[in-house]
Amino acid sequence: MPGSEAHISVFDHGLLYGDGVFEGIRFYRGRAFRLQAHLQRLMDSAAAIRLTVPYTQDELTQAVADLIEAFAEPDGYLRLIVTRGAGPLGLDPDSCTQPTVIIIADRLSMIDAKQRQQGAHVIIASTRRLPADGLDGRIKSLNYLNNILARIEANQAGADEAILLNQNGYVAEGSADNIFVVRDGHLLTPRPVDGALQGITRGVVMELAAEREIAVTACALTAYDLYTADECFLTGTGAELIPVRDVDGRPLKHCPGPVFSRLSRAFSELIAMESQPR
Ligand SMILES: Cc1ncc(COP(=O)(O)O)c(C=O)c1O
Repeated sequence: MPGSEAHISVFDHGLLYGDGVFEGIRFYRGRAFRLQAHLQRLMDSAAAIRLTVPYTQDELTQAVADLIEAFAEPDGYLRLIVTRGAGPLGLDPDSCTQPTVIIIADRLSMIDAKQRQQGAHVIIASTRRLPADGLDGRIKSLNYLNNILARIEANQAGADEAILLNQNGYVAEGSADNIFVVRDGHLLTPRPVDGALQGITRGVVMELAAEREIAVTACALTAYDLYTADECFLTGTGAELIPVRDVDGRPLKHCPGPVFSRLSRAFSELIAMESQPR
């Protein structure tokens, strides 16, 4: 149905308490990119918050295919949301009997072309990533206020993106993307235990690097590692791969650098291959 006709209850606990999980998924040439990985992460996020998704992965796969077919354009973005559903005011999840499932298809216009070409200006936010014993960063939940606070800092500073550190001062991720640095031809990226979402794009980049014999290590990184990197880039479904131009006003040695350019090309080739008509 058109967005203007879609509605959910004001008593939905997804709205009232952020009680729910979601995925952002791209589709290219009518095919959802890495859909099964996204659905698996959705199921894992739901399991972690003891939310039963009322459809199987196969049923969701079919629903996504139907929606893409109904959408007017071959390329776009899907938002798949599962909330605890409507219930009485009061946060007890057991008071909600029927989860709400929403799938939205839309055009994507998150990143401007200039940022893609010239690289993003990023800052390190003073807002810290929530510790895993409060809310594990692997759960892709509807609670994004922490990330939004970081994003407000980026906006205030005139930057394109904010990087969050965790409680120990190690780099976690961007407000809506993962981060990689390149040092001596070696790729480094924060670990999920440091507060990095297990990004689907992050995983694809790691696969592409391994295939090209570019060493990748997931490890603890500090601001120093970003400031002194040869290259730095962001990855995410919306972002795809974006080179970073500077971090807190310190220009990176290369932007876009050779490792980024190689992986970015490989990423585009992979999308073209995986979105070929069957
Ligand atoms: C906080 C956060 N980190 C990382 C990512 C990148 O993950 P993915 O590549 O699966 O889109 C996202 C994107 O949704 C995100 O919201």
